[in-house]
Amino acid sequence: MRLPLRELKWLRKAAADANRPLDALVRRRQQGEPLQYIIGTQPFGPLELSVRPPILIPRPETEHWVIELAARIPESARHLLDLGTGSGCIPLLLAHLCPALSAHAVDVNPAAVTLATENAARCSVTRFRAFQANFLDPDFHVHAMLCPPYDVLTSNPPYIPWNEYLELPDEVKNYEDPRALFGGPSGLEFYHAIARLAVRERFLSSDAIIALEVGHDQAEAVGAIFESVSLRTEAWTDPWGKKRTIIAYRGT
Ligand SMILES: C[S@@+](CC[C@H](N)C(=O)[O-])C[C@H]1O[C@@H](n2cnc3c(N)ncnc32)[C@H](O)[C@@H]1O
Repeated sequence: MRLPLRELKWLRKAAADANRPLDALVRRRQQGEPLQYIIGTQPFGPLELSVRPPILIPRPETEHWVIELAARIPESARHLLDLGTGSGCIPLLLAHLCPALSAHAVDVNPAAVTLATENAARCSVTRFRAFQANFLDPDFHVHAMLCPPYDVLTSNPPYIPWNEYLELPDEVKNYEDPRALFGGPSGLEFYHAIARLAVRERFLSSDAIIALEVGHDQAEAVGAIFESVSLRTEAWTDPWGKKRTIIAYRGT
């Protein structure tokens, strides 16, 4: 398989920067490994994050809504919680762009917690702490490392339903953690858990903002989940015109 010229350019640079043999990197790419895992980094807004398998590679659609959210977070907001943090991309970019915010980040995968912590150091974000926890656990809200109430709650949870998971390209399925992708049979399991947390007493501040990435056809269903617990919602579109972010508000 011939690689596109721009990929070859990136691989040449990665080989030269780290003194690695170019042909080995090219072979890995020809075998279908994502370019970002071979290079080892991925830009996310102004940040350059480390990435490694099987932690999800941050996607451009995520970067888009996170930058938009940063512009809308009120200056009074102080504490953010990110659920299912992966590389830490969401809370690290928000803490970088909103200097008054300090961020907590959780992931069920200890390797993600390690990577997010490394990325905080790499990006010089000191107001950040990542820890291992399962937010589907009914007792998650009393986890000892949490410090509620939070003013901002973010998540790009696993949201791919089973039938779509089977159809994913090998480049995704063979390298990225299924726990980062599969959102239960309907794809909506994690949103129900987040909605329960959002309305738990004193978990969020009274005017908290909740921002969630959703699958390409899930905006309506996820909006309905949050409206069913009496939160006001709106949908934001991605650069390609698709509703990919649900914003829910605790306040009026
Ligand atoms: C779609 S990935 C998002 C990663 C990162 N936030 C991003 O946008 O690139 C979902 C993340 O949720 C984590 N996760 C899955 N189930 C979880 C659970 N029950 N509790 C905490 N984290 C979970 C996965 O390990 C994965 O890192």
